[in-house]
Amino acid sequence: MIITVTPNPVLDHTLTVPHIAFDSVTRATASRVDWGGKGFNVSRVLLALGVQSTVLGFVGGATGQRLAAGLAALGLPTDFVTIAGETRTNVVIAEADSGRYVKVNEAGPTVQPEEIAQFLDKVRQRAVPGDTWALCGSLPPGVPDDFYAQLIEILKPRGVRVLLDTSGPALRLGCEARPFLVKPNAEEAATFAGHPVDTPGTARNAANVFLERGVTQVALSLGAAGLLLTTREATAIAIPPDVPVKNVTGAGDALLAGLAYALERGLPLPEQARWGVAAGTASAMHEGVSIVTRESVEHVYTETSVEIAS
Ligand SMILES: Nc1ncnc2c1ncn2[C@@H]1O[C@H](COP(=O)(O)OP(=O)(O)OP(=O)(O)O)[C@@H](O)[C@H]1O
Ligand SMILES: [Mg+2]
Repeated sequence: MIITVTPNPVLDHTLTVPHIAFDSVTRATASRVDWGGKGFNVSRVLLALGVQSTVLGFVGGATGQRLAAGLAALGLPTDFVTIAGETRTNVVIAEADSGRYVKVNEAGPTVQPEEIAQFLDKVRQRAVPGDTWALCGSLPPGVPDDFYAQLIEILKPRGVRVLLDTSGPALRLGCEARPFLVKPNAEEAATFAGHPVDTPGTARNAANVFLERGVTQVALSLGAAGLLLTTREATAIAIPPDVPVKNVTGAGDALLAGLAYALERGLPLPEQARWGVAAGTASAMHEGVSIVTRESVEHVYTETSVEIAS
């Protein structure tokens, strides 16, 4: 069983207009709504790979209900804690032809201490040995920076394998609780390690900093350069083929889904790296956020090369 956690979800509303103009009324030519959240992205890609997962997080108000219903309609089981505040909406106003846009992000509702306690209770009830949990994204107002660390402290002793994908203080504190795997990108790894990550050597050094802190496996994703997947014993470097790229947003979440898929199947490190990159690059080739098909992932898989380093 795989569970994904999205503490800070958002309803993404994109309005397309012919021209962005100030101080006048513009009619939208298209309007679409997406369920934004990094754990949702992981679950959506897992579903495309044929693996069920359950989505956890905080939602509130009419927007939260809409989001929960939208995920259910995609075939994703949810088990949210309902909060008093209203789930945030992010608005993008995009010009049809120029690629220019205006994006306005809401901070989101403040999660109350009793709502956090309810979530922790849910985690205690749901923790089953052998399961995999993916903890994904930023934390909403009111949720302390050590939230992921607290989840890991609950999950690890109960035999759960935890994958952590976040940044900043939540990543630093999360690592202190020693998750099984972390998935930083180059920028997040550079911030954590305190030095730039822009060459294979500096990526390796940054990955080692996570290993020294007690993380078992580090998946350092490097955009078009692929993935460095390493443990204390072994390292695999997966390099994607040269492909036409449409949207790299959410490619890292797709990569995490590919890793979770391979871990669930008990595949060895080089195969984990290959599935991770296959899912990430298949996502980058699609204009949607973390949208793949099983076929597209399998196609990139066959063209992804893996090197074993010592
Ligand atoms: N330009 C690209 N060409 C080919 N593959 C790409 C490209 N950009 C990303 N990918 C694929 O996606 C994976 C993850 O990308 P990246 O390191 O940018 O993740 P990220 O910054 O965590 O993304 P996000 O947080 O938006 O999901 C890469 O390892 C690679 O497989
Ligand atoms: Mg990422």
